[in-house]
Amino acid sequence: MILGVDYYPEHWEEARWPVDAKLMQEAGISVVRVAEFAWSRLEPREGDYQFAWLDRALGVLAEHGIRAVLGTPTAAPPAWLIEKHPDILPMDDLRNRLGFGARLHRCLASPTFRRYSRAITTAMAGHYASHPTVIGWQTDNEFSGNRCYCEACAQAFREWLQRKYGDLDALNRTWGTAFWSQEYSAWAQVPLPWRTTCGSMAHNPSLLLDYYRFASHTTVAFQREQVEILRKHCPEHFVTHNFMGLHDAVNYYDLAKDLDFVSWDNYPSGSAALPHDVMRGIQGENFWVMEEKCGHAGWNTMGPIPRPGQVRAWAWQAVGHGADAIVFFRWRSCRSGTEQFWQGILNHDAVPGRRYREVAQLGREFRQVGPELEGTTPGNDVAILYSYDQIWALQIQPQVAGFTYRLWLERYHQGLHRLGVGADVLGTDADLGGYKLVICPPLYLLDDALAARLDRYVADGGHLVVSARTGVKNEHNIAREEPLPGPLARTLGIVVEDYDAVGQDTNAIELHDGARFKVSLWCDLPRLEGAQQAARYLRDFYAGSPAVTVHDYGKGRAWYVGTVPEERFFRHFLGGIVEDLRLRRVADLPKGVEVASRQGDRGRILVLTNLTPQKQPVRLQDACEDLFARAIVADTFELPPYGVRLLRTTS
Ligand code: GLA
Repeated sequence: MILGVDYYPEHWEEARWPVDAKLMQEAGISVVRVAEFAWSRLEPREGDYQFAWLDRALGVLAEHGIRAVLGTPTAAPPAWLIEKHPDILPMDDLRNRLGFGARLHRCLASPTFRRYSRAITTAMAGHYASHPTVIGWQTDNEFSGNRCYCEACAQAFREWLQRKYGDLDALNRTWGTAFWSQEYSAWAQVPLPWRTTCGSMAHNPSLLLDYYRFASHTTVAFQREQVEILRKHCPEHFVTHNFMGLHDAVNYYDLAKDLDFVSWDNYPSGSAALPHDVMRGIQGENFWVMEEKCGHAGWNTMGPIPRPGQVRAWAWQAVGHGADAIVFFRWRSCRSGTEQFWQGILNHDAVPGRRYREVAQLGREFRQVGPELEGTTPGNDVAILYSYDQIWALQIQPQVAGFTYRLWLERYHQGLHRLGVGADVLGTDADLGGYKLVICPPLYLLDDALAARLDRYVADGGHLVVSARTGVKNEHNIAREEPLPGPLARTLGIVVEDYDAVGQDTNAIELHDGARFKVSLWCDLPRLEGAQQAARYLRDFYAGSPAVTVHDYGKGRAWYVGTVPEERFFRHFLGGIVEDLRLRRVADLPKGVEVASRQGDRGRILVLTNLTPQKQPVRLQDACEDLFARAIVADTFELPPYGVRLLRTTS
């Protein structure tokens, strides 16, 4: 287990560096991430690379056993570069150029910017290739999608479309441009989704989806150039990027293909269980937290300070979900700049206080139990499918306000979590073979290949949960022609004859066991074609007709949830399936107490976290060994506010 911190030596006098490094070492910190915003110090004038200051900082850190992850500093291009090449600045959908003065003021499709990005990356990679303190790289900082509307993007979009469709006839046919007389006779006519008389989102939905894909591709291609340079010069170093959890403007599956592992920036407000699972699922591997919240958030105003024990609980929650490193953001609150009030481990006054002591406790605990966690990773019986294409298509056309992929994802995940059942959140390409239950939030865009894989999964004995608005469109965002739910109708044993976008106007459903739940947003009206009714509507002209269905198909079973039930439903409904399948559940958990587990050769390690300010009772299903206390624990105990327990079970 690695404990680290994000450090900005360029913000402080050199005389302070040894004091910082010593305090870090005493807290158990062994890694810093540095330099990801230091371009103006690393290259104060074009081609004038200044690495001596960073070398001295790394030297001081090394004396205290601390190693470094270097950031390529391209998220904050310096003023001289913007002055010389203002065309690097991105444009909004009204084609206004955005200005210098914050960060991310660059278009990743700009050939000029690409040139400067390659130059600074090459210079840094060359200089630090064999530096003993450097262990790896972070590309840029928090890529956020490059939805830019400049001429360079327009040009690159057309080239990307040309590669994808070959000729304009194919593009016209695929996008259905006969609608509103949009047929293109020259590539130069194809627009970016610039603001039109009817707004930006009134563009052809197929064009919009391709634009979102293109903007993501631009980010991936930009990063790839940096990664290739880093790999060439620094074959011994790892390369990662700091992802943003549930941020959805970049296809993280594509972005991660060029990286050694995923890391991400965790600023939890409630539970971060879901984003941790999404992040682990990107490569199906353990990950780093490259920025972990350690104080209050704040640029110009401030948020609440973490409660005693809360920072430690967040860190252990991350470890439970697969984090192998926790790097706190940031070492010390900055005295200048936009983020003056974003709290570090140390306050402006640099006097070690409560948060420093909490981080140091974590350092001791990592030393104590780190060896036990070595080589362990979460492994679950349930998979939830995650897809950027689905997210984007539903952002473009939400069906009804509030109907988002995220809403479904959160409700399924939370339902499982409340049951004490872990889930792997996986891309739609993932191998589902080993999973007992696969849950699909709306597969609104459904291609035949995915439908065939899901069909086979059920036929071979898998249990599948499918959601409303599945099978509506093909992968080009064009409505499918066959009855809903398209190519999954046979597997699910239903045909959705009609549907009602009820919005906030709620209906209710009743399950066979008499449990009743409110539903809202959407009501599908499925006809049974082999499936059984599992829940029926209670109101409106479709009262009594099926809302949830279940179909025994091949050796497996397929469920269809045709409406959006309130949160409580998911725990109840999934609880029944979990029981039928006898899935592993480790504990009965009160709200706010979570369990995550990591599997290794010597059994499973459960990480229990109480994310509430109250003490909470926990009842385990097996006797366990407490890894902090090195003792067998009773099966019923209390977790203190923000308390953590690490337990080894042999089950
Ligand atoms: C992000 C960034 C950091 C910092 C923090 C706090 O996660 O990566 O550079 O800006 O937010 O604002």
